[in-house]
Amino acid sequence: MYDNAEEIESLLLSDGHTLLSMADETRRRYLGDGIYLRVIVEFSNICNRRCAYCGISADNSALERYHLTAEEIMKSVAHIALCGIKTVVLQSGETDSLDEDWLAGIIKDIKRSFDMAVTLSVGEKSLSAYKKWKEAGADRYLLKIETTNPEIYTELHPSMSLDNRKKCLSNLKSLGYETGSGTLIGLPGQTPADIAADIDYFRKNDFEMIGTGPFIPHANTPLQKEEHGSLPMVLRAVAATRIVMRTVNMPATTAVGSLEKDYREEALKWGANVLMPNFTPLPYKKLYEIYPDKRCVNEPAGACAGCMEHMAAGTGRFIDWGRGNRIKA
Ligand code: 5AD
Ligand code: FES
Repeated sequence: MYDNAEEIESLLLSDGHTLLSMADETRRRYLGDGIYLRVIVEFSNICNRRCAYCGISADNSALERYHLTAEEIMKSVAHIALCGIKTVVLQSGETDSLDEDWLAGIIKDIKRSFDMAVTLSVGEKSLSAYKKWKEAGADRYLLKIETTNPEIYTELHPSMSLDNRKKCLSNLKSLGYETGSGTLIGLPGQTPADIAADIDYFRKNDFEMIGTGPFIPHANTPLQKEEHGSLPMVLRAVAATRIVMRTVNMPATTAVGSLEKDYREEALKWGANVLMPNFTPLPYKKLYEIYPDKRCVNEPAGACAGCMEHMAAGTGRFIDWGRGNRIKA
């Protein structure tokens, strides 16, 4: 069942009530009621790429750029550990000048000092960089495919290639990273068949985590006049991914929380099982503006953790404070 894009597309477009209850039932049966946390620290908004949807694209000359020092990163990580959380995602824009050894040093320092799973999200890099960071102790890597439709991918990502992105994801898997990918829902020209093809690609590659969120137009990008992605379609994609991939970890993404209201609880009901508190230090948080009106940018770093307990309770569930590795079905 659901082992090809056509079947996944019919699932995606099936009756909403049935989809919701199948996804919720699958989540409960395979994962129970625990919600995992993945804390994000956005350590730099410097980016060389020019993705057409993204507010921190190199083309946005109006944005003030920042880069945390190793000391600032370690301070954030110590704060995360103090809150009893065992995961950190180090995320940044994608630059060719990222110092691989500097990052490896930070990974080693975190692994030496704390009981914590380290996730990286710094974009497309060489196999040797991925290997170096894995050897330094990194556990996981996030690299969204964004869309598997080759025309849309090429149109939105000048000087990048879908093939290279897929190659990076397969390198990460082969090095033993828990690998996360994901899709932007509502990109101009994207159809339900494209979204079903994305989910089929995730299924074939058996990624450990899938992040699904709406595209939100940013004023300083070429897509400023486009409509944002439809929330119902995001929820459908989350539910279909849960049904197809059963034990996969899926965040209720910050983008889902950043539309007219916060829909993250909804996403948790439609199959999501992960929340991503943001611990980027306050002066910098609002500069990581990949899309406008991003949730929590004015809250101090630790605030999200408390909020997440409320959100979990709001759906009758609880926070699981463990590392939350993917359970193999
Ligand atoms: N709307 C929603 N999500 C976005 N991202 C980047 N720009 C936008 C936008 N305008 C997402 C991408 C990227 C992640 C870090 O942020 O999916 O992988
Ligand atoms: Fe971040 Fe509420 S979830 S402050």
